[in-house]
Amino acid sequence: MRGLNGKAGVIAGGGRGIGAATATRLAEEGAAIVIGDIEGEWAEKTAAKIRDAGGKAVGVALDICDPDSVENLVQTCLKTYDRLDYFHANAAGGTQGDIDALTIDLAVFDRSIALNLRSYLICTQKALPTMLERGSGAMLYTSSGAAYGGAPWQVAYPVAKNGVHALMRHVAARYGKQGIRANVVAPGLVLTEAALEHLNDEYREAGLKRAACPRLGEPKDIAAMAAFLVSDDAEWITGQVFSVNGGMAMRD
Ligand SMILES: NC(=O)c1ccc[n+]([C@@H]2O[C@H](COP(=O)([O-])OP(=O)(O)OC[C@H]3O[C@@H](n4cnc5c(N)ncnc54)[C@H](O)[C@@H]3O)[C@@H](O)[C@H]2O)c1
Repeated sequence: MRGLNGKAGVIAGGGRGIGAATATRLAEEGAAIVIGDIEGEWAEKTAAKIRDAGGKAVGVALDICDPDSVENLVQTCLKTYDRLDYFHANAAGGTQGDIDALTIDLAVFDRSIALNLRSYLICTQKALPTMLERGSGAMLYTSSGAAYGGAPWQVAYPVAKNGVHALMRHVAARYGKQGIRANVVAPGLVLTEAALEHLNDEYREAGLKRAACPRLGEPKDIAAMAAFLVSDDAEWITGQVFSVNGGMAMRD
């Protein structure tokens, strides 16, 4: 991919799953990465694997909901690699108790919004000043097919992910002329550790039936799109939501 070699950035929520696969792919393309995760050990383990393979990566403990912690992630990238070319906000969680509009506890709703949406605004606030100063930068946010799927079994998570789409479009529109691009990658069902922990066989089979492709997603499928979107090959792409879902949903 064009223009990743020599660049540096961060992945917030990259200790495992899609974030770890994206870090690995970016390193293979020659980019340096600071991986942040609430599980600091996972972040460092993923970074160590990348370094062992000859790539550039460091892992740090991160709470994406805490502005000081996100600031530390950005500063680690600037101190270690002297630049911040991309920021991938990818962490998610807090789906326990997120059942439907009538039964969800308001505290569960608030926690989901804090982790799945408010945190992405924090990432934006911490990444943009440095990028604006340099006149370039790529923001990437991970959403989900759940944002537009009309799921009857969840309410806060799709609300939060839809908010991420609006945040991304705001960033693209407001700061585009100053060199900032912003996009969303919206995965379908991807067989990460988290998906395997939370989803039963029945759900996975239903997903496979809905997909046009003959298999469910793997983290590397999302990593490929993520790497493309922060690369220079995507320099005229901004303000968009990209579904990577094996055809589980087909939309414009
Ligand atoms: N796997 C799927 O099928 C699927 C489908 C649609 C969307 N997504 C989205 O893809 C992204 C990655 O999902 P995944 O499947 O790899 O799941 P995952 O749970 O393995 O990845 C999320 C990472 O974020 C970290 N994290 C959680 N809370 C954090 C916090 N407060 N601060 C910092 N890090 C924190 C976790 O430790 C984990 O490493 C998420 O945004 C998720 O909503 C996944």
